[in-house]
Amino acid sequence: MAVFNVDGTFYAINDVCLHRGGPLGEGELQGTTVICPWHGWRYNLTTGENEVMPDRPIEKYEVEVVGDDILVDLP
Ligand code: FES
Repeated sequence: MAVFNVDGTFYAINDVCLHRGGPLGEGELQGTTVICPWHGWRYNLTTGENEVMPDRPIEKYEVEVVGDDILVDLP
């Protein structure tokens, strides 16, 4: 799982890129899009949409902030 903080809003997605398993948590952020550090696939953190292969969205998890804790609802 990879957790991102975009201007104080937290998002969580599967950390494993659907292309060849790159570590999305190490990817560059452009707004609410994370770019895989290995070959550049792009995922929208708000929807899980894969901007390169729209038929292959990444798993997205619900996040709740409670005090100092970040709670992620894993399936
Ligand atoms: S492993 Fe992520 S784009 Fe290739």
